[in-house]
Amino acid sequence: MDKNNIILIGFMGVGKGTVARAIYALNGSFCIDTDDVIESLTKTKIKDIFESKGEAHFRALEKDCASWLIKSINNTVISTGGGFYKQEQLKEIGTVVYLESSFDEILYRINSSSNAQKKLEKRPLLQNLEEAKKLFNSRVDAYRKVADLIINVERKEPKDIASEIFSKLRK
Ligand code: S3P
Repeated sequence: MDKNNIILIGFMGVGKGTVARAIYALNGSFCIDTDDVIESLTKTKIKDIFESKGEAHFRALEKDCASWLIKSINNTVISTGGGFYKQEQLKEIGTVVYLESSFDEILYRINSSSNAQKKLEKRPLLQNLEEAKKLFNSRVDAYRKVADLIINVERKEPKDIASEIFSKLRK
């Protein structure tokens, strides 16, 4: 099967889910989110999976999710958890689009949202901001390397990011 998916990767809080929904609003492409798929499968919140079974178990669930996406999903926009980019078969799922932003801009984005507290609380790897910054720095090069397309999203509206993705993919 020729894959026609778009996979949005990038750090926690950069707006992958929001951009996926903006793409749906733009052209009706359905979207799914790997964290939502895992929560729905396990009937457990990501935060609780980390707490009860540990990060390694969560990564194994992400791997299962990647296999399912390859086997079963096409013509879909897939927003991913911030660590999903590590999946070896990422490119087999579709075109990889990295939503890029500095760490400070990500924090600004989260803190200026109406439910900032909730956004922080639900993310186990954002509990300690110093650690989160280290994680960000350790991932930046890898995000860029695996991407087919890099879009800087700082202070841009989701609908403009959605349009930019399509105009650049068409080229
Ligand atoms: C993670 C990002 C989270 C979620 C989990 C781990 C990561 O998703 O998958 O908490 O390793 O960066 P978001 O990027 O949607 O916050």
